Amino acid sequence: MAIVPLNKEEIKKMEAACKNAARTLEYVAKFVKVDITTDELDKIVHDYTLSTGAIPACLGYHGYPKTICTSVNQVVCHGLPDSTKLKEGDIINIDVTSKLDGFFGDTSATFTVGKVNARALDLIEVAREARDLGIEMIKPYCYTGDIGFETNKFVTRRGYSTIKEIGGHGIGRNFHEEPFVPAAGKKGKGDQLIPWHCITVEPMVNEGTDKFKEIAIPGSSIKFYETADGLLSAQFEHTVLVTDTGYEILTVP
Ligand code: MF3
Ligand code: CO
Ligand code: CO
Repeated sequence: MAIVPLNKEEIKKMEAACKNAARTLEYVAKFVKVDITTDELDKIVHDYTLSTGAIPACLGYHGYPKTICTSVNQVVCHGLPDSTKLKEGDIINIDVTSKLDGFFGDTSATFTVGKVNARALDLIEVAREARDLGIEMIKPYCYTGDIGFETNKFVTRRGYSTIKEIGGHGIGRNFHEEPFVPAAGKKGKGDQLIPWHCITVEPMVNEGTDKFKEIAIPGSSIKFYETADGLLSAQFEHTVLVTDTGYEILTVP
């Protein structure tokens, strides 16, 4: 399916949906502490989202039963909130998607629980920088492979690995649209980005191997993923508008 660029009015709606998601992520961040359960974080985001007039977009998406994804330690993405308490030294990615006025804003960040070891902190910083370097590659008619190439080069040099099979996506009138935005690739390969369309950049960065295991979520076609070696994985995500000269990050509070 060909990508249809957003018009001015639609861009305004995307900006509002993305701001909503970013503010919600900022809100829930304050609650990340030793002994809180991921289910409690889920409820906080659910209630907060509704209070803003937005819709929690993950809830019911392909049967996904929760509002957020909470990916703790070795969980790569789509971690399902449950009754497990966070403990000192954990890292947790919280992924928030808001639907507002028909448009989707998608953002995530990895947080630390209490005091975390230096290696985990380094992994988190590399994941954040990998996302930001990928975003800096964006300009109209560049290739998704340009983003993946820079991301993977940076992460590999820092001694970590990127997930190849899962990544960013087009977003706007739908939660997940074309193109696939990889965290590894070749310059000039993949799909071309067109002005006035949005994508997410959300590389998953692993401490060890890039191999992962798939785990089913009962009643849903969404799966969650864990590193094959049980080592840590970290991730940051922004929704970004491709403009006629470059890009604009939309998921800012
Ligand atoms: N927010 C995730 C992403 O970045 C998608 C979560 S889909 C869900 O694309 F169903 F697992 F919530
Ligand atoms: Co996304
Ligand atoms: Co997301």
